[in-house]
Amino acid sequence: MRLQHNFSEIYKTIESIMHNGIRHKKSRDAILQDICVILKDKICYYDWVGFYLVDQAKGNELVLGPYVGSSTEHVRIPFGHGICGQAAERSETFVVSDVSKESNYLACSPNVKSEIVVPVFKDGKLVAELDIDSNVLGAFNQEDRRFLERVADLVSQLF
Ligand code: SME
Repeated sequence: MRLQHNFSEIYKTIESIMHNGIRHKKSRDAILQDICVILKDKICYYDWVGFYLVDQAKGNELVLGPYVGSSTEHVRIPFGHGICGQAAERSETFVVSDVSKESNYLACSPNVKSEIVVPVFKDGKLVAELDIDSNVLGAFNQEDRRFLERVADLVSQLF
């Protein structure tokens, strides 16, 4: 059975991480790292949580930013490649319930069963993505999506 998580409580925690981080002049990456830690700690089926940042020099490539979970070989992802690259190309959230059924997918670990990728926009322009992998099949529902899109909106002020 799916465990109930209090997304509004977790959102408030993330808001205070953001505000305190900005007040104490923490770096953007340090704040993003703290947010990854909270998301992974608080939500039991979030097994890999990370940010990919748009390489501003190239414009069409993502580069791995702060993350929590096993290390990944996918440090750079061209737009269009994998779930992350497709979400970047289309500038929209991708939810994949069963990654084994996805042909354009970049595997990080054989344990991963489902994935959500949420774009982060600054002034309407894609600047980053929040990427979450779960070892549970079909882990992400509408509630996760709405919650993570709010988190993505919140972090956009760091860019
Ligand atoms: N699975 C992603 C690659 C990034 S890892 O999940 C960390 C994809 O297909 O784009």
